[in-house]
Amino acid sequence: MSDQVRIIEMGPRDGLQNEKTAVSVEARIAFIEALVAAGLNTVEVGAFVSPKAIPQMASSEAVLRGVSHLTGAEFHVLVPNEKGYDAARAAGAKVVSVFAAASEGFSRANINCTVAESIERFRPVLARANADGVKVRGYISCVLGCPFDGEIKPKAVADLATTLWELGCYEISLGDTIGVGTPAKAKEMLRAVSANIPPAKLAMHFHDTYGQALANLYAGMEEGVRVIDAAAGGLGGCPYAPGATGNVATEDVVYMLEGMGVRTGVDMDRLLGATNEMSAVLGKPPVSRVASALNAKKRRARS
Ligand code: HMG
Ligand code: MG
Repeated sequence: MSDQVRIIEMGPRDGLQNEKTAVSVEARIAFIEALVAAGLNTVEVGAFVSPKAIPQMASSEAVLRGVSHLTGAEFHVLVPNEKGYDAARAAGAKVVSVFAAASEGFSRANINCTVAESIERFRPVLARANADGVKVRGYISCVLGCPFDGEIKPKAVADLATTLWELGCYEISLGDTIGVGTPAKAKEMLRAVSANIPPAKLAMHFHDTYGQALANLYAGMEEGVRVIDAAAGGLGGCPYAPGATGNVATEDVVYMLEGMGVRTGVDMDRLLGATNEMSAVLGKPPVSRVASALNAKKRRARS
């Protein structure tokens, strides 16, 4: 359990996409700079989706261009189709993520097509990315439950993961979009998926709606998965997943991992600074338990 874990920081994308307050391009860039300075060198910074669907992610091209000076970091952006891919490439994207769902209900709500149609939209994106030397990450949403279709069978997740893997995705990120999973279910799902894909090529993307994300991550680590998606401060959620709250908080993940002797390369104090700055922009305190505890400790030390 003590080998290194890679954290993919989701705050600027998954985090901000669900916030009511519109965050300026400048504040999004400052947030990403602060996260990179904290040691989070892989950050999802935006989404090339319809601005009518997700206005919070409008101007993602300006954000991506605005962080291009941070040469030591890797930036990811979502693309749902070739139109998104064109825009992402024009802004200099080197890693893009396609996103499918394990359920028809969520696929329809989120990207307005069936699961099979979404694969047909991704096929040319992957072919072009391969020719352009661009890496493609593949997401699957609702791997542990769907707000529309309910229970999801591990086999449905495994089959879709295999399809994305065979299309050429370098890593498959498994999303518990509405945070309903529990450790035994997470293990069962990960075992089914890793029958066809090495666990080293999987990522866990767990939202913390029911407070189970850390337990589920620990269970997934026991299955050999070593990539974790997390959002600073526990920001966000998906506008198309009713009731879903944010990703597991990066602070909570870092605290757990460092406590287990797993190196993350993240400076907690700087991460807390990045979270607190965004929290001031949004006008609300972070939901992360660790961030709240550390902020309270700082206040006590000052008084
Ligand atoms: P559609 O209506 O089926 O697409 O939307 P369309 O091709 O018929 O086009 C409709 C309009 O969208 C047109 O504009 C297109 O130009 C435009 P109009 O003529 O009406 O002015 N359009 C685009 N604009 C910008 N960028 C594009 C693009 N494509 C078409 N790439 C579409 C399909 C996917 C575009 C739409 O449904 C959409 O943008 N959905 C947003 C999905 C989204 O961003 N969801 C949140 C992220 S996913 C997530 O959070 C889950 C995840 O975190 C993992 C987890 O937690 O499980 C990843
Ligand atoms: Mg998500």
